Amino acid sequence: MTNRTPKTFQVKSFGCQMNVYDGERMAELLESEGLAAASDGNAADLVVLNTCHIREKATEKVYSEIGRLKRPDGSRPMVAVAGCVAQAEGDEIARRAGVDVVVGPQAYHNLPQLVADAAAGRRALDTDMPAASKFGALPARRRQGASAFLTVQEGCDKFCTYCVVPYTRGAEVSRPWTAILDEAKALIDAGARELTLLGQNVNAWTGADEKGRDQGLDGLIRALDALPGLARIRYTTSHPNDMTDGLIRAHAEVGKLMPYLHLPVQSGSDRILKAMNRSHDSASYLAILERVRAARPDIAISGDFITGFPGETDEDFEATLRIVTQVNYAQAFSFKYSPRPGTPAADMEAQVPAEVMDERLQRLQALLNAQQQAFNQASVGRRTAILLEREGRKPGQKVGKTPWLQSVHLETNAAIGDMVEVELISAGPNSLAGAQLVKEAA
Ligand code: 5AD
Ligand code: SF4
Repeated sequence: MTNRTPKTFQVKSFGCQMNVYDGERMAELLESEGLAAASDGNAADLVVLNTCHIREKATEKVYSEIGRLKRPDGSRPMVAVAGCVAQAEGDEIARRAGVDVVVGPQAYHNLPQLVADAAAGRRALDTDMPAASKFGALPARRRQGASAFLTVQEGCDKFCTYCVVPYTRGAEVSRPWTAILDEAKALIDAGARELTLLGQNVNAWTGADEKGRDQGLDGLIRALDALPGLARIRYTTSHPNDMTDGLIRAHAEVGKLMPYLHLPVQSGSDRILKAMNRSHDSASYLAILERVRAARPDIAISGDFITGFPGETDEDFEATLRIVTQVNYAQAFSFKYSPRPGTPAADMEAQVPAEVMDERLQRLQALLNAQQQAFNQASVGRRTAILLEREGRKPGQKVGKTPWLQSVHLETNAAIGDMVEVELISAGPNSLAGAQLVKEAA
């Protein structure tokens, strides 16, 4: 047990964007308690491992991370395990040597107290999912770049049979309208030009506006659109069933809403979608995309796929390749099915052999990569606005994003956070090169 109150910290986040957001908020919380950020985990007094449990050997990964934190002199930092592994396997993790604090994703506002408990040699575990939201107990937003995440919704009630999220993040909860708008304004004041609204089911967000009228995500997006200083709005991740007419219309009407939609389908086989409890089929998914594309013809579509779900036959997999061909994705994420303890699919018969999963994943990824490359290639020659987000690898170079979420590197004197007009001049699979059209005055 580390018996010393930490003065410096590092937060290491794994997994989804919501974990990145939670990691930032934990960092802000620790800073508000007087701790200073350290750039190197081994030098920090406290390391927070903000973990992901969505797939594969997540727990083993946490243990190997902890092992790596041992310093040459045998000492080690205080270690806090946060995130979804902490939620799912809290008691077991708390018993492991080298772990001082265990804190779940709905309890991290208590991190300073837990750290104090651990420093005093007391047991420090909190995986409660309290009715009152943690957000009210967190300090105001401070740390930010040009593009910021803003969690508006958490948890999931959909219970896809492969997924741990409903168990680790809990039931679907929408943050209140005013809390979101206040946080958005604070982020914009801190320099954010782009906001990405986050939620496991972000398009299921509901709430009442300041006049008490019921609103959906589209209403929230329209309210954000009116905020001065904000240039771009994105949202992720959406479920096909919550893709309302209003949200689709927003893609046609809201100037700051970017032409990009992450809408996972998971499989192209209706039999597998049913076994996954996805509550949509391939035809209804395609029909939604048709309406979205009618509203915003240039929209870039992205998705998630799982290969080797229990019972998936060659024919089912061919249906997945077919839907990918029909949709033509600009970007996509694909994974081998990973049985998650406690989920219905983990107990299903007919688990698919690993080598079959591997082979299917490779074929799927080859197709998706080719589509992404073609999408990028088709952008060459296009003139568009880039939001500069960070320094590039070479001196004088900066990296930013197109409206379609492609990374672009270019030579420019403009500052991070500036919007610059470029012509896209060449494309690789993962990024493009741009040339600035109007140079800033020196
Ligand atoms: N195995 C493989 N992939 C999964 N995902 C969620 N659970 C699993 C699992 N058990 C994928 C889905 C989801 C993305 C975030 O992770 O594609 O959309
Ligand atoms: Fe998991 Fe399905 Fe909920 Fe997405 S919609 S978080 S895949 S249960």
